[in-house]
Amino acid sequence: MSTTSKKAIVLIGFMGAGKSTVGRVLAKLSGLALVDLDALIVQQQGRTIPVIFADQGEAAFRHYETEALRSLSDASPIVLATGGGIVGYQENWQLMRRLGSVIYLRANWETLRSRLAGSIDRPLATAECGEADIKNLWQQRLSLYEQADLIVDTDGRNVDEVVLEILTRAKD
Ligand code: S3P
Repeated sequence: MSTTSKKAIVLIGFMGAGKSTVGRVLAKLSGLALVDLDALIVQQQGRTIPVIFADQGEAAFRHYETEALRSLSDASPIVLATGGGIVGYQENWQLMRRLGSVIYLRANWETLRSRLAGSIDRPLATAECGEADIKNLWQQRLSLYEQADLIVDTDGRNVDEVVLEILTRAKD
């Protein structure tokens, strides 16, 4: 896949994996537009993610998440930063693969734990959730993330290094 192909680059990974940050730099360097799915949900629903979770629950959020994904056109390539739970539904995989290549930004638990410390806008990773539960969620999802077309390790690497690897390997 080259950056001139008609394919999107879809970034997946656990909360704190750096999907939005990597997505921003990747979009800039590749000249593609960036779509942040969480931001799109907030825009479409007119409510923040914590408010959606608190008022309507996770199931409603997952429904909005799939609808937001479905609303994306595959007519022009984009960089898409998804939310960490997108991988839990088979339908989402079909929608992501329709758009382009799915790339897993992999990070070990220590990296994620430190990046998530103090996070207040992620209902499934607040201090009240407890570290054991967040780690458990991560472990449950690992085999799902690994279904990606490409796996890129992010531990101990800066954003530019990760973006360079994506641009290089995504050309193959
Ligand atoms: C979630 C991850 C969040 C957001 C929501 C649920 C998850 O996105 O979609 O809070 O289930 O892992 P980030 O991965 O961008 O934090």
